[in-house]
Amino acid sequence: METIDWGNLGFGYLPTDYNVRCYFRNGKWGKLELTSDQYIPIHMAATCLHYGQDAFEGLKAFRGRDGKIRIFRLEENARRLISSGDYLRMAAPSVELFTEAVVKVVEANERFIPPFGTGASLYIRPLLIGSGPQVGVKPADEFLFLIFVTPVGPYYKEGFNPIRVIIDRDHDRAAPLGTGHIKAGGNYGASLLSGEEGHRKGYPSVLYLDAKEKKYIDECGAANFFGIRGNTYITPHSHSILPSVTNRSLQQLAADMGMQVETRNIPLTELSTFDEAGACGTAAVISPICSIYDPQEEKTYTFGDGKSAGAWSTKLYHKLRDIQLGEEPDTHNWNKVL
Ligand code: PLP
Ligand code: COI
Repeated sequence: METIDWGNLGFGYLPTDYNVRCYFRNGKWGKLELTSDQYIPIHMAATCLHYGQDAFEGLKAFRGRDGKIRIFRLEENARRLISSGDYLRMAAPSVELFTEAVVKVVEANERFIPPFGTGASLYIRPLLIGSGPQVGVKPADEFLFLIFVTPVGPYYKEGFNPIRVIIDRDHDRAAPLGTGHIKAGGNYGASLLSGEEGHRKGYPSVLYLDAKEKKYIDECGAANFFGIRGNTYITPHSHSILPSVTNRSLQQLAADMGMQVETRNIPLTELSTFDEAGACGTAAVISPICSIYDPQEEKTYTFGDGKSAGAWSTKLYHKLRDIQLGEEPDTHNWNKVL
């Protein structure tokens, strides 16, 4: 077997042994197939190619000190794929089929689940697309659900070190009544230029404001945003952000730790009152934010000492990781243990 440098993995695609796939045809899901083919045959008029019938998910499996494999909040991701499918008018796998597929692909690729203690995990990427042909703007009548997995390290090369973020006032990733609340591939296409411009200016991530008034914070690249003031965890409530499973978990952990939790509009100006800020998501876990630059106002909001994560963010990060790895009791029943 090829040797993998587990401790130095980035967030990229490494081929694994198998993926799973299943077609919805004639009104029902067919057999779940395990394959080592990394390609999919696709009709040139498939709706995913022309009309954006494309949604995906992201979740992770971890290997514990006890050797067991834990998959974090699988059912939440299944439900979100169902809601993405519903909005994009696609048949979506049931929670049961989604679970069966995740377990099958993780077990088949067991040798790619990073060892305990490396900081790496197995990223699980379910995809749902309209595979049937249409020429008129209409939903397909055939869908493909597949899952591949790949071992990953940190999303930002900074890992748990704070990142600098720039506000993007020139692009929106999602419209106020659009698709921001689902995990549609199109949202990510809409964010590519913005992300590249941010990188070019030296920022690993961009912060989006609400598309209508540009007054409130929406989200941070491919992650939700949170701020902490005193012992209060504050995170945006917005129709155009993705309901993050990680963010919901952190809200629960914050409450468990005795913090206040507020989910509401966060005016941009409130940034100057936060002691800590962070981006959170499956890939990002918690990426602490040390500064946010607003090019229009030529103003920089700073958080903490600029070098390390704040006290609450650190506590939340470790609590979440420890639950995922089986180091702490899973009191909310979030892990599926294989
Ligand atoms: N927001 C966006 C736009 C994302 O792509 C992601 C990643 O999935 C998140 C937030 C975080 O969501 P989750 O914690 O469910 O991974
Ligand atoms: C995730 O956190 O799972 C994401 O989807 C982020 C990005 C890789 C799209």
